Amino acid sequence: YSQHIQDSPNPVRQNSSYPKEPFISGTVPSGFLWGTSTAAYQVEGGWNTSGKGESIWDHWAHQPGRTPLGDTACDSYHKYATDVQLGANLAMTAYRFSISWPRLLPDGTLAGGVNQAGVDYYNKLIDELIAHKMVPFVTMYHWDLPQALQTKYGGWTNASMVDYFNDYATLCFQKFGDRVKRWATFNEPWSFIVPGYGLGVSPPQMLFGMKRRQYEVAHVVIKAHARAWHTYNDSFRAQQGGEVGIVLGALWGQPRNTSDPRDVQAADNFEQFFLGWFANPIYGNGDYPDAMKQMINGDSAADPRLPVFTEAEKAYVRGAADFVGLNQYSAVLIYASDHTFPLDFISLVMPDLKGVKDTSDPTWPHGASSGFAASYVVPWNIREQLRYFSEKYSHKVPFYITETGISEKEQFPPNMNDTWRQCFYMLYVDEAIRAIKLDGRDVRGFFAWTLMDNIEWGSGHSVRLGLHYTNFSDPNLTRTPKASAKLYRDIATSGGFPE
Ligand code: NOJ
Repeated sequence: YSQHIQDSPNPVRQNSSYPKEPFISGTVPSGFLWGTSTAAYQVEGGWNTSGKGESIWDHWAHQPGRTPLGDTACDSYHKYATDVQLGANLAMTAYRFSISWPRLLPDGTLAGGVNQAGVDYYNKLIDELIAHKMVPFVTMYHWDLPQALQTKYGGWTNASMVDYFNDYATLCFQKFGDRVKRWATFNEPWSFIVPGYGLGVSPPQMLFGMKRRQYEVAHVVIKAHARAWHTYNDSFRAQQGGEVGIVLGALWGQPRNTSDPRDVQAADNFEQFFLGWFANPIYGNGDYPDAMKQMINGDSAADPRLPVFTEAEKAYVRGAADFVGLNQYSAVLIYASDHTFPLDFISLVMPDLKGVKDTSDPTWPHGASSGFAASYVVPWNIREQLRYFSEKYSHKVPFYITETGISEKEQFPPNMNDTWRQCFYMLYVDEAIRAIKLDGRDVRGFFAWTLMDNIEWGSGHSVRLGLHYTNFSDPNLTRTPKASAKLYRDIATSGGFPE
């Protein structure tokens, strides 16, 4: 591998300020999961096939002026066996996918009835994975809320969602828990709460919620997570013996000047707002991080915008996880500043986080995704984030890198020889191995986002992150391995970078 990376034209290593150290030689512990990740809306299609209910993403895509690419997506609803074979071809030992809530419960509730065709679909997928020696790693909520729950109750703004989610999670444990041993309740709560209920740019497009609504929604989501964990713990664990955790979107906030204590504090405040909003209640002391409490409620104790956990709720939420999944793509540089300009992402998406600004290092290569984490290639973000998490939170759990990856713009003809994506995965896996070998972190799996080019939410298929190229012009939606697929297979079969 060292030879390979030295020989290949490697924009990542050539352009980046990343330390030019040789690769660490090392392999992962036995039982480590090598996988790829997907999500129901992004791959399944079949949006109303065989009894599936409408999700908030279907609803959004069907508004005038939009092209509902998710209606068919990669048609994994019919092509699941092909997808499992793709994973098997890459020698994967795991596959992370999500269950579509409205495919199981069309109107979101048990009272509305279970869609047997949906149960059958996930049974077939799970059985096919197991037949190909892949561990199913299942996300229960990857953003596709049943539209009926949004219309009737206002979705996650309503505290009764804790019960509805618990019913749905219980159904998942009952139907699939004999074979599924790794459950993530939510995928990246930040990423659906802030855009969906704060800014209003993503489904369910609730505007003007940055000051209050998004915090109330997160409060409900955290309780829903804890409730599902307790249900599993009380009623399923003894019999099924699995693990339940949550997948958090993580973005490493690197102090721009590590010898300036104000930048160091600013970076920590950023982490408290981004990761800590969810991690601190569940893995820390059962409560929101101090920086959030001070900055959001400091001057309004009589009317707190950030909801307050009771002591009983803290005890219920604290430690309610058997692992943490980190979607660990990138980093930002953080510095302390009280100025309005230059405008940065923090001022747009975290207006309550005062005195903190983000920027990036101009030498960092980046992919085609836009937004907060504009997919800067910063491999050491993995190791730094794992260090931070381990030092910050007292509830010790194993880690899974549940997603990482790099995007490119759709191009014709497609560039199947994605050397730079090969470099990306080598560097990122290398950092995971450093974290295990040098820092002793208990990392138990690494999942590439994503198995194949799919529907990248609002960007459709114009932004691609797959190890396989998906030809969306071909009625068969053919998937073809890119060069990076072969490389990732080599890494997985070698267990990393053996001596
Ligand atoms: C995180 C999300 O979980 C996933 O759905 C998305 O496609 C990737 N990041 C890439 O943006």
